[in-house]
Amino acid sequence: MKKICIINGPNLDILEKREPEFYGGISFNKILEELKNEFNNFSFLYFQSNVEGEICDFINNFDKSISGLIINPGALTHSSITLRDCLGLLKIPVIEVHLSNISNRENFRKINITTANTIGYISGFKQNSYFAACYLMQKHLK
Ligand code: DQA
Repeated sequence: MKKICIINGPNLDILEKREPEFYGGISFNKILEELKNEFNNFSFLYFQSNVEGEICDFINNFDKSISGLIINPGALTHSSITLRDCLGLLKIPVIEVHLSNISNRENFRKINITTANTIGYISGFKQNSYFAACYLMQKHLK
């Protein structure tokens, strides 16, 4: 069974309290439960932090059993060269996800710093962005 890591960045721990028109009004724990049911051929490792450095520490200490990373860096997407550099050191495939359509919001969300060090990104499908990422990761790892 392949092990996939999902990392969520700042403020995704309170997803259910954020603007439902962008984020769907559902908690990430609920999304994760549904992902585990649908992708039962994956084992999931989940990490969330509101602290940039904690996310980098976690990634830099990845164990060898992880086959792929799905990451929603939250607002760090638009600001973090630190996280971008950290992702750039990984030898496993990385897919970035966003619940909202970051191309269709404020201009500052159109700057994607971390995305360059991923194989691609999915944006705008609310919780289904994570489902699409898992599906594509599965295809990619075959
Ligand atoms: C987000 C988009 C970011 O612009 C925002 O700061 C987030 C969530 C998304 O999933 O749509 O926190 O990454």
